[in-house]
Amino acid sequence: MKVLTPFRAVGWAAAVFTSEKSFAANPVLGSRRLNELGLHRARVAAAARMAAFRRRFIPVPEEDRAAYARDGFVIKPDYLPPALFDALREEVFGGKHRAREMRQGRTVTRMIPLSAAARARLPHASAVAFDPALARLTGHVAGRTGAALHHVQTVIAEPERGPQDPQSALHADTFHSTAKYWLFLHDVTEEDGPFMFAPGSHRLTPERLDWEHRQSLDARAEGRAHHSFGSFRIRPAELSALGYAPPRRVAVKANTLVVADTYGFHARSPSAKRTVRVEIHGQLRRNPFVPWNGLDPLNLPGLKGREYDLHFGWKDYWGIPSIWRDVGEVRADDPASV
Ligand SMILES: [Fe+2]
Repeated sequence: MKVLTPFRAVGWAAAVFTSEKSFAANPVLGSRRLNELGLHRARVAAAARMAAFRRRFIPVPEEDRAAYARDGFVIKPDYLPPALFDALREEVFGGKHRAREMRQGRTVTRMIPLSAAARARLPHASAVAFDPALARLTGHVAGRTGAALHHVQTVIAEPERGPQDPQSALHADTFHSTAKYWLFLHDVTEEDGPFMFAPGSHRLTPERLDWEHRQSLDARAEGRAHHSFGSFRIRPAELSALGYAPPRRVAVKANTLVVADTYGFHARSPSAKRTVRVEIHGQLRRNPFVPWNGLDPLNLPGLKGREYDLHFGWKDYWGIPSIWRDVGEVRADDPASV
């Protein structure tokens, strides 16, 4: 084991220049000494500068650019023409699809990957997900274009079961801009546990940078799982001290697209009743330190759009356990089976 340590140390150090975020898994990123010297602070500041630079070269409609700059998210109601939206719903709800499910406390997330195999059966969902205009918008929000992951997502809230969902605590996903989008196939009301976001909290204020620095010192030692994995939690009362507005619940009508920079503080607001909601969902998180847009190895022929197939194929082949349980063919709005 000791023989391998120098090689692993090189890997840990090299990860400083990637999107690696875990203070617990990487002793270099988690080092109190290095973080006292400003390692985490420097990564956060450099990533924000690089994202701002690359964003200038990712054109989006002016109203989307202004909404992102102001709030950290973009909301586009009536996103698809009505006939196309109806066809999309019919396609998603009209049959069974190969799915995986994950339980986090009282919330189950189901994903139907828009993988190469699924795309022939979900052509409208795939056309939405792989639309170049959406790729530019997610790229602008993430501060870098590249290969995103796309799936049909079902969120099933079962308030009577299990502990609170960890996603219901206000948090940032990582230390740099990164995009998630949802095209909602149902109305999501205030009571349905909508997405919650603190407007403006994607901006790196001097106070946020100091807060990031303070969190980094004890993140590895503290034993708060999500904190130590690099997804910092925050109390709503702390937001104003960082220069941010209180969180806003994003209740939306069906056929609304929401694209958010999940470096901003966000949460899934808890639902008091049993709910099932379905959305076309994607996420884009790439290395934040490179000076270019695109040029993503995952967009190479043979890899593009096959990330889920390769990821789960690899795990299944080697028998590596996954938090995402294969549940076979189910309807998108079926009850949970995990
Ligand atoms: Fe999140």
